[in-house]
Amino acid sequence: MEINKVTKEQSDFSVKINYGLEGAYFTESKICKVDGVNGKLYYRGYSIEELASHSNFEEVSFLLLNGKLPRKDELEEFSANLKKERELPKEIVHIIKNITKKEDPMHILRTAVSALSAYDPEADVNTKEANMRKSIRLISKMASITAAIGRFKTEKEYIAPDNSLGHSANFLYMLHGNKPSEKEIKIFDRMLLLHAEHSSNASTFSVLVTGSTLSDIYSAITSGIGTLKGPLHGEADENALRMLYEIKSPDNAERYINDALSGKQRIMGFGHRVYKTYDPRARVIRETLEEIKSSSPEVKNLVDISFKIETMMIEKLGRSHGIWPNVDFFSGPVYTYLGVPIELFTPVFAVSRVSGWCSHLLEYWENNRLIRPLDYYTGELDLKYPK
Ligand code: ACO
Repeated sequence: MEINKVTKEQSDFSVKINYGLEGAYFTESKICKVDGVNGKLYYRGYSIEELASHSNFEEVSFLLLNGKLPRKDELEEFSANLKKERELPKEIVHIIKNITKKEDPMHILRTAVSALSAYDPEADVNTKEANMRKSIRLISKMASITAAIGRFKTEKEYIAPDNSLGHSANFLYMLHGNKPSEKEIKIFDRMLLLHAEHSSNASTFSVLVTGSTLSDIYSAITSGIGTLKGPLHGEADENALRMLYEIKSPDNAERYINDALSGKQRIMGFGHRVYKTYDPRARVIRETLEEIKSSSPEVKNLVDISFKIETMMIEKLGRSHGIWPNVDFFSGPVYTYLGVPIELFTPVFAVSRVSGWCSHLLEYWENNRLIRPLDYYTGELDLKYPK
């Protein structure tokens, strides 16, 4: 009793709790720099603007995984390996089809990715080379799984991959059943590139927590998918678009936002744990809105509402509270332009982020240490069991 008392007093004096691990460092990494003060983002030293202008998702995936941009022959080999891994085992297609009616797409994706290990003879081989092969498998197959979910959700048949197409073009083909235009491929590919990596965000951290027990890559990525699903993380893009539909017209935006804020509601697609300024990814996606806004009356209306909310939110909470648009705010109109249904937004986020997840896991395993933080116990002690 006495000992506990002393320990508690000492702890009160020395323990500083970082709720939500805010501001806490747990490892070093050479993969990604998020500069939340200046609104800058770098993958392996390259700014996101530089990569969005000159690179593509396949090349960026190689960069994240290998730490350097590929030579031409290395990129060709990487792309060929992605193509080889696209087809899904028929059992996985059955699983997706069987649970489509009952389940939300993120549950289906999580279940299908978890089940993939049963069809991978290397599932529990934890060598560096096997983990690199499994990363490529996951990047490739998660796109096929997500396209299949999209097909079955609209009661259409699964479409086999087309290996004449690149990763992004093939995803759109497997989802829609027709070949996308160059403009659509470029815009979708840029979305994947922008979402591919973001340092130790909640889902990446959860991938590393699972991986740090020396569990396997399928278990770790399954954890990441479960974590990405939350409305405070990956699902915010879906909810941001639902909000635009609820608002209906730019004329209603002011009243809607005022009511929401006075009711203490959070506006989805705004605010970030690290960025206290404009998210640089949101800036790039905002430029895309300018490119697509005249494509249809529906897209134009969504873009107009978005711009109105953006102006209001920056005035009300931007400069004063550091709550600015994040990557999820402008995504909805872009995916609407691409014909990606709203319930696939978060799975598409995972299709992209899997490159970052795998890269962090491979890096962490180079110098693995079990992740096991402490909580500060505030309950009772030495209670007597009732007799
Ligand atoms: N709208 C209105 N107010 C907000 C918002 C928002 N989007 N975000 C934060 N705030 C307010 C909070 O209500 C809180 O106010 P209070 O101090 O008066 O209570 C204050 O800002 C601080 O908020 P916290 O939740 O402590 O800040 P945190 O760093 O934990 O928040 C988060 C980060 C969770 C992303 C938050 O901004 C949020 O909920 N945003 C909406 C969801 C969203 O867009 N998520 C996607 C993030 S990006 C990504 O994961 C890909």
